[in-house]
Amino acid sequence: MKNPRRKFLMQSGMMAGAFFVPTFKKDTTSSLYSFIQKNKHRSLDTIVKDEAFWYQVSKGYTLTSEYLNVENGYYSLMSNEVLEAQKKNMQRVNESPSWHMRKEMGTQRKRIKKELARFAGVPVEEIALLRNTTEALNILLLGIDIPEEGEILYNVQDYFSMKQAIEMRARRTHAKARQLNLELQKLSDAEIVKAYEEAISPQTKVLLLTHLINVTGQILPIRSLVEMAESKGVEVIVDAAHSFAHIPYKIPDLGCKYFGTSLHKWLGAPLGTGMMYIQKDKIEGIEPLIGCTAYQDTDIRKFEFFGTHPAHSDLSISAALRFHQALGSEVIAARLHHLKTYWTTKLAKLPGLKIQTPLEKGRSCAIANVFLEGWKVRELEKKIMNEYGIHIMAIDYQGVEGLRITPHLYTLKPDLDRLVQAFTEIAK
Ligand SMILES: Cc1ncc(COP(=O)(O)O)c(C=O)c1O
Repeated sequence: MKNPRRKFLMQSGMMAGAFFVPTFKKDTTSSLYSFIQKNKHRSLDTIVKDEAFWYQVSKGYTLTSEYLNVENGYYSLMSNEVLEAQKKNMQRVNESPSWHMRKEMGTQRKRIKKELARFAGVPVEEIALLRNTTEALNILLLGIDIPEEGEILYNVQDYFSMKQAIEMRARRTHAKARQLNLELQKLSDAEIVKAYEEAISPQTKVLLLTHLINVTGQILPIRSLVEMAESKGVEVIVDAAHSFAHIPYKIPDLGCKYFGTSLHKWLGAPLGTGMMYIQKDKIEGIEPLIGCTAYQDTDIRKFEFFGTHPAHSDLSISAALRFHQALGSEVIAARLHHLKTYWTTKLAKLPGLKIQTPLEKGRSCAIANVFLEGWKVRELEKKIMNEYGIHIMAIDYQGVEGLRITPHLYTLKPDLDRLVQAFTEIAK
């Protein structure tokens, strides 16, 4: 059989009738939406554990048959619905180039930004539609005002590109950069706030915080951290690359004034879509990276002046929002947390296996990191791909060594059983 995942489902009994699997005449997105809609009345707890439901959701994606993908921490594939929208949008932009860019794009961008702002819980005048988190955070880290001798504080577990932006800022201007070496996964939320509090000095003017750490999957208590830092006069920039549309929140819940994310990660929008949020009264204080005098200093659109770009990808953000909202943020996060609990509970019993992520609800969601004694992580990643056909991710940077494992909405329990079996055989 060509598709090993299909074969696995057969063997596990999922497709052979062990579960009730509703069948559709055609695997169309509209049938998926009506199926999801019909299940809306069910409790979170039952839906999250219902493999037959998630089997139908998984059919809303086109997956590779080459390997089992449990490395969804890079970016998310688009659902079929988003992919179809993207193809149509690309065709429109391609067949009508000048007309689209001159006559249609402005109105469309306004509409998309409104939808996105509503989803994020902030006014549309406070968001910029950008290409990714890297762009958003570079604008903030390089553009924020820092007085003489002021420093930017960050931690070893922050994302490497942001560290480079901070180093660049320090190289180009009088601003200083200071890195902390906090092993956050070993600390409670209260200890994390205390550790940052103790690290802030009178020179600290800007603090970079990562909402959800990419290497471990740990979620930081951002609101408490922001409140603590701001009470000391420190401006806080939040890297939300991995938290947005992964765990349920609205931007105001975080209490932050500066925020950047990528929409091609957990929202499942096309590659090259991102968003930056800046509280209205703070926009004027940030210099754009790319020259722009067309808008007032207080207008967030001054950051969107990056020239001709793949406009069709922005257009497809609507479809991604629709797909996400059809399931709902709470259901999505609960299922992802459930999957993580499922595989980590089994792996935790293996000899020499260490879980390097706080697993409690609210402290991680889809992503977790494990270390298996006696193995170099890159070799183990290779073995699991070559011998078991499973893609996971070796991490040996940002002060963490381990394997990052990240299921997604199309991951089913038999997929995770396959992962557990691989680790069980190797750990023997
Ligand atoms: C914590 C964190 N910040 C920023 C980024 C950069 O995201 P992008 O490449 O979409 O700009 C990533 C990417 O994985 C990340 O994990």
